Amino acid sequence: MAMPGPLRGRDLLGISDLTSNEVRLIVETARLFKQRFYLGERITPALKGMTIALIFEKPSTRTRVSMEVAAAQLGATPLVLNRSEMQLARGEPVRDTARVLSRYVDAIAARVYSHSTLEELAAYADVPVINMLSDYEHPLQALADMLTIVELKGDPRRLRIVYVGDARNNIAHSLILAAVKMGAHMVVAAPRQLWPDERIRSQAIKESELTGGKLELYEDPQEAVRGADVVYTDVWVSMGEEEYAEERRKLLQPYQVNEKLMQLASNNAIFMHCLPAHRGEEVTNEVIEGPWSVVWEQAENRLHAQKAVLALLLSP
Ligand code: CP
Ligand code: NVA
Repeated sequence: MAMPGPLRGRDLLGISDLTSNEVRLIVETARLFKQRFYLGERITPALKGMTIALIFEKPSTRTRVSMEVAAAQLGATPLVLNRSEMQLARGEPVRDTARVLSRYVDAIAARVYSHSTLEELAAYADVPVINMLSDYEHPLQALADMLTIVELKGDPRRLRIVYVGDARNNIAHSLILAAVKMGAHMVVAAPRQLWPDERIRSQAIKESELTGGKLELYEDPQEAVRGADVVYTDVWVSMGEEEYAEERRKLLQPYQVNEKLMQLASNNAIFMHCLPAHRGEEVTNEVIEGPWSVVWEQAENRLHAQKAVLALLLSP
C-alpha cells in the first residue's frame, strides 16, 4: 500500500494532535490492513529495513505485543526497551536519550508516567514519537476502539457512546476526542471530580461544532446509559494512581457496569473495555463474559490500527 499523506513524519502524542479527517484516515487505513490480513496478506513490507524503539516505563501486554507484531508485519524491526534497563533509570536525561536514539531508529514509541516525558522526547527527537499511553492520553487505544465501533455499529455520527467510570484518565480522554472527531454523541457518566480534564472538554466541544458531534457530562450513570449504543468502561485505578485506590473504589462503586445498567442501554448495545479489566470492580463477570461484550475484537483491533498508524507516519 502506498502511504504518502498528511501524517508522514509527524508525532502522535494524542488524539488532540489529529484533525477529524486524520482520525478517519487512520481508521479507514486500519480497515484496509485488517481486510488484507484476513485475505492472507500478513506481511506488507511498507517499512522494510526500519527500526522502531518501544520504550516502556510501565507494564503492558496488548500494546507491547501488538506494536511488536505490527512492526514485524510491516517489515520493520521493533526494539523493546524497558526504562529500568536503560541509562534513563540512572538519570540520563530524556532529551539526551531522544537525540541518541534518533541516530539509530526510525521512530520512538513510549509508554510513560508523565505526558511531559513524551513532549520532551518529541521536542528533542528527529524521528516521529508515538504515545503508547501516558497519564493524559492513550491514542492508539482510541483509534482501535473507533475501528471496532465502525465495524460493529456503523457510522459513529448516529451513535450514543457512553463512557462510565473514571473519566479523567487516558482512555476516557482519547476516546472522547476520537468519538467527537468522528461526529459521535459522546456521553460521560462520572462523579464530578473525575470528569475529563478541562482541556479535553473544551477541545471536544470545539470539535463537535465542526463535526456535528456532541459531548454530554452526567453524574448519574443510569441517566447516561439510557439508549446507549456503546457502553465503555476502564479501571478505577490507573497505573501510577495506586495511592488513590481506596478512595476511588468508594467513589466509583455506583458506576460499576453490571447487567442492571446494561439493560438500560439500547437493544444490541455493545460493551467495551480497553483491558486489563478488574471483574467485580468497574465491570461484572456477567457483562464482560456476556452477549454485549466485544472486548476480544477490540483487543484484536489494536494490531490493525497500529499497522495503519506506523505505515501512515513512517512510510517512505
Ligand atoms: N489496553 C492496553 O493498552 O493494554 P496493555 O496495558 O496490556 O498494553
Ligand atoms: N487507564 C488505564 C489503562 C490501561 C491500558 C491505566 O492507565 O492504567
